[in-house]
Amino acid sequence: MDTATTIAALRERLAPWRRAGERIALVPTMGNLHAGHLQLVEAGRERADRVVVSVFVNPTQFGEDEDYASYPRTLEEDVRKLRGRSADLLFSPQPAEVYPEDAKTVVEVREMNKMLCGQFRPVHFNGVTTVVCKLLNMVQPDVALFGEKDFQQLVVIRRMVADINIPVEIVGVPTVREADGLAMSSRNDYLSASERRIAPSLYQSLCAAKKVIEAGSLDFRQIEQAQLAVLRQAGFSPDYFSIRRCSDLLPAADQDGGLVILAAARLGKARLIDNVQLTAG
Ligand code: PAF
Repeated sequence: MDTATTIAALRERLAPWRRAGERIALVPTMGNLHAGHLQLVEAGRERADRVVVSVFVNPTQFGEDEDYASYPRTLEEDVRKLRGRSADLLFSPQPAEVYPEDAKTVVEVREMNKMLCGQFRPVHFNGVTTVVCKLLNMVQPDVALFGEKDFQQLVVIRRMVADINIPVEIVGVPTVREADGLAMSSRNDYLSASERRIAPSLYQSLCAAKKVIEAGSLDFRQIEQAQLAVLRQAGFSPDYFSIRRCSDLLPAADQDGGLVILAAARLGKARLIDNVQLTAG
């Protein structure tokens, strides 16, 4: 696996692949790689001749009171994990390479950036869409892969790519879970042993809501309230528990198909997010 830390070096490595007509996949990450990320690399390999993985802890997607400084940076370990996989190139730039000091441009997907997680993390999605747009411009991949665990991120990125005509296929890859159902996430490292035992209740609560809907209940708001109470009882401080349309993340109504149930909840120092999809009717 080759490595590049500058945009110039990245483009130099990509040029011969592009000249040879090879298909290129991009897996954007913030590092601290786990099995969920490695699944994205495998999915990239299935769809392209070359897989580029970026590792960049993006400062602009963290609020001032969030964990940018303490976010786990494990580049050596990440390189080791990627070497055993099918990644061809690791791009790991420094913040100054990605954000010139005099940069003035922000990519914003309006409305969608303020709902759900955006309500609690006001700068987050503008940071994500700006950096993902930049990474897509730097690498110019044919396909880019994102985990479905960050479902709102995936929908927002699809919207951005469609709205500003970026010529790339966006692929969502199913969430990889621990044996007890907890969605894999770099932030699971923040959980204490006792919080780790409680954490799978978030997924259980989403599955319980899914079961109730599949059994025929269409009182979505009541289901949301009931599961918020379950989460509080389990020891979480939930930000939201919400039944939405997969396509645009607007609140689901009775007649909608293609639904997703999303939740975010704080547990100690960790803020966990998860979701389950269902086809109504
Ligand atoms: O999902 C992530 O790890 C990040 O939000 C992403 C897409 C790499 C952008 O920084």
